[in-house]
Amino acid sequence: MSRIFSGIQPSGELHIGNWLGAVQNWVTLQQRYDCIFCVVDLHAVTGKYERDTLALRTRDMAIGLLASGIDPGRAVLFVQSHVPGHSELQWLLNTLTPIGELERMTQFKDKSQRFESVPAGLLNYPVLMAADILLYRADLVPVGDDQTQHLELTREIARKWNADFGGGEAWFPEPQPLLTDAKRIMGLDGEAKMSKSLGNTIGLLDGPEEIWQKLRPAKTDPARVTRKDPGTPEVCNVYHLHRYFSPPETVAVVAENCRGAKWGCLDCKRVLADTMIATLAPIRERALDLRSHPARVDQILGDGAATARRLAGETLREVRARMGFLPGAPA
Ligand code: TYM
Repeated sequence: MSRIFSGIQPSGELHIGNWLGAVQNWVTLQQRYDCIFCVVDLHAVTGKYERDTLALRTRDMAIGLLASGIDPGRAVLFVQSHVPGHSELQWLLNTLTPIGELERMTQFKDKSQRFESVPAGLLNYPVLMAADILLYRADLVPVGDDQTQHLELTREIARKWNADFGGGEAWFPEPQPLLTDAKRIMGLDGEAKMSKSLGNTIGLLDGPEEIWQKLRPAKTDPARVTRKDPGTPEVCNVYHLHRYFSPPETVAVVAENCRGAKWGCLDCKRVLADTMIATLAPIRERALDLRSHPARVDQILGDGAATARRLAGETLREVRARMGFLPGAPA
């Protein structure tokens, strides 16, 4: 059975972009594949972060994943820092990753502008991601569009390691991305990708009132200045969100009423708010229940980490041997 690995940062709330672009797909894939999902807290400290809330946010991200339907009976779910092998493999892979490749990563170029003095961890972020994936020798990685460049680099690193240490074998598989048609959900500002760091999100666990308050000012077709102006649904982000949350009949009505200027944008948003609230309500309910049982969540994460440590240990034993280290490292 092919193996799947994917991760999510606990650097902010789990939002509908994460859910539509990746997490929903994880839930489907766990039925058919050997799946490993990780809350990547070591990645989350590569930028400025709040020390006091990191642990809480890490657990809450796991809660969001469980509430979305990740089933610990089918998939391994754990926290990255609970498996030290990620850091060890990252160090080893650092030794064969060209700095030039890291400097040309789009996310690095964007994020490094926010720093006066750029931390090395930000540059090496994609190497840790490669280590996450290769540590479990995963074949497939379900992600959104913004991670495909990092995956390309992961394949390059795997190829280089295989050439140097694989003994003629492709010992590390070259992992392929799995994208959905929601691979790049736009933010409510209609200008950039929905992103935790841009504040243009709707949280997966937001309540009805929060959802409505966030949707109300969301950007729509700029050509619709008054409600009498006919619109073009295809250029409107709110219409695109309808396609993911509303039934096809409603999507058709929305398009028709927008083109014919029969609805104002606020009418259209009200309908979207209702379908979104109804879709997300069961997830929110499960999350609220899990939040009141943190020990249950920690138990799931503890079991997941134990399995992940075992799998990581198998890979690292072989990697150390193939790279020529003196035996004796801890299992
Ligand atoms: P992160 O935490 O930013 O996002 C988690 C997942 O959500 C996807 N995503 C989106 N998809 C569609 N539209 C959007 N607006 C949107 N925003 C986010 C992301 O593509 C991602 O799949 N570096 C990764 C985490 C990571 C990882 C890994 C992923 C660390 N190690 C190994 C895969 C394999 C990240 O920052 O994702």
